[in-house]
Amino acid sequence: MSTQPLPPRGPSDGDTLDYIAEQLETRGYAVIPAAVPPALVDRLFIELKQLDSAEFKPAGIGRQDDFQVNRFVRSDQICWLQGQSEGAGGFLDWMEQLRQGLNRRLFLGLFDYEAHFASYPPGAFYKKHLDAFKGQSNRVLSTVFYLNPQWQPSDGGELVIYAEDGESELECVRPEYGKLVIFLSEVFPHEVRPAQRERYSIAGWFRVNNSSALVPDPPR
Ligand code: OGA
Ligand code: MN
Repeated sequence: MSTQPLPPRGPSDGDTLDYIAEQLETRGYAVIPAAVPPALVDRLFIELKQLDSAEFKPAGIGRQDDFQVNRFVRSDQICWLQGQSEGAGGFLDWMEQLRQGLNRRLFLGLFDYEAHFASYPPGAFYKKHLDAFKGQSNRVLSTVFYLNPQWQPSDGGELVIYAEDGESELECVRPEYGKLVIFLSEVFPHEVRPAQRERYSIAGWFRVNNSSALVPDPPR
């Protein structure tokens, strides 16, 4: 029998925060099937569907001068969340509550949050990667939130989380509607397997502030 506590359902109440904090502390990642209020999930899904495909751009790897689109590594399309709409604003507010709650519980010093919608057309993937390299990034915690109604096991598109060695599989997560995954950005290599149908997620990162007068906090 597993001794893991059951993931709570419902909004960002104390229980959800406690659960996420406890999982991050003991395992370094958390999978929460329904953390975000259902009405907010629906709102986000509607907004996503209303986004013009022209607003999605091929995702790249690296930042600024390093930025490059490499279709052998990832083939998703992205659109950054701005927060002026009800759904995106609600999601960013929810993440702000989470940021404050996690800072209180784990003293992570999380400073801000950035997130984008991602659309993976059928067959698209994101090969095994780390979201942050030790000492080279201000991304501390990665979040992935899924917006795929009625996702079937045969649809594929799993997020596979590997142990730090990059070899053993820790978790194979189906990208189901309303599910949230959170993990330490520098620790867990992960990949997105190709899916049979269009696959939607919101990928985001809590960051610490590394800016100084000489080196501004790098923009995305
Ligand atoms: C990412 C990422 C995972 C997913 O965008 O960096 O790893 O399941 N996304 O969409
Ligand atoms: Mn990633």
